[in-house]
Amino acid sequence: MRTQVGIVGAGPAGLMLSHLLHLRGIESVVIDTRTREDIEETIKAGVLEQGTTDLMKQTGVGDRMMRDGFVHHGINLAFSGAIHRIDLHELSSGRAVTVYPQHEVLKDLIARRLADGGDIRFGITGTTVAGLTGDRPVISFVQDGRDQQLECDFVAGCDGSQTYCRFLIPQGAIRTDFFRQYPFAWFGILAEAPPSSDELIYAHSDRGFALISTRSPSVQRLYFQCDPATDPGEWSEDQIWDEIGARVGSVGAAIKTGKIFARAILQFRSFVCEPMQYGRLYLAGDAAHTVPPTGAKGLNLAIADVHVLDRALGAFYEANDTGLLEAYTSTVLRRVWRAQHFSWWMTSMLHRFSEATDFDLRRQIAELEMITGTPSAAKVLAENYVGLPLT
Ligand code: PHB
Repeated sequence: MRTQVGIVGAGPAGLMLSHLLHLRGIESVVIDTRTREDIEETIKAGVLEQGTTDLMKQTGVGDRMMRDGFVHHGINLAFSGAIHRIDLHELSSGRAVTVYPQHEVLKDLIARRLADGGDIRFGITGTTVAGLTGDRPVISFVQDGRDQQLECDFVAGCDGSQTYCRFLIPQGAIRTDFFRQYPFAWFGILAEAPPSSDELIYAHSDRGFALISTRSPSVQRLYFQCDPATDPGEWSEDQIWDEIGARVGSVGAAIKTGKIFARAILQFRSFVCEPMQYGRLYLAGDAAHTVPPTGAKGLNLAIADVHVLDRALGAFYEANDTGLLEAYTSTVLRRVWRAQHFSWWMTSMLHRFSEATDFDLRRQIAELEMITGTPSAAKVLAENYVGLPLT
């Protein structure tokens, strides 16, 4: 088999890249070890930046998002017994975020690729990539028991944080990994309940962080900071609701409870690898970088990466111009590190660290008061939260 761009991974980065390339007339094949059902049903975060929603609308995959997603013009910060609204819309010149789950974005992208005749191979095994430093790399894999070879011009490594592709960039000589671990995780739940708040609530408390998010009028998404070794099955539903209530309840956000039908522990990491390119391999999304979930930047960064990669590949095929491809790493890393800082900052401002003293708690409160009490500081949060424009 032969294609122009071989894409490893059918997550947000891989599927959006395949879609954008198709609109330019560039062929691709997407492979993934997971089944379509796995990809379409795995619960991830759900906040789309303005740039992500604009791109989805402009490229014809935004209809369901516009119908079923919720546009949020603000978020709330709860601390010291009070709740403070950050007006994202006003502070970021009319931009906003849309709450629409990642797996719904994936369903929309898969449906559109298949309707457009796209080639997505689900459930493959044994991926290997060879020839990256030449001009005809080959991706080998096994599909339905048969060995397949996919010869391409470029390989896009979009295979998420469990990546194989990242390790094709020789560590040390070429690749450097930047890494930070956090001493906590999030306990995430989905519950059958009406929304507790019109807009998300990020809560700081002596007991640790909590987040009230939403999925639909009848399904809510909530998180609270926990020990990374927590077994989610050990908590009763009452314990979970009491803990969330104790962290945000004092500010009067009467939390509406209901049956909890999904629970999971989300590990926290900040990670970047540099460079994001090696020979004919280009990494995008979590394969190259991971953020802690506090600012919901993961999917949005993946989309921003492939937006750049699509243009760079477009310039190569349309004008034989390699300039944008050569600039790929430096172009995307600026946004990646901006988002790394933002995600770390939101995390460190809102969570209780195990070694934290009373001094640290007071310092966090002072920082939250600065954000909520100073328009220029609130603007920094708002602009980063809604996301810098895709350029
Ligand atoms: C979510 O709804 O899953 C969500 C929302 C905001 C975040 C992280 C996750 O910062």
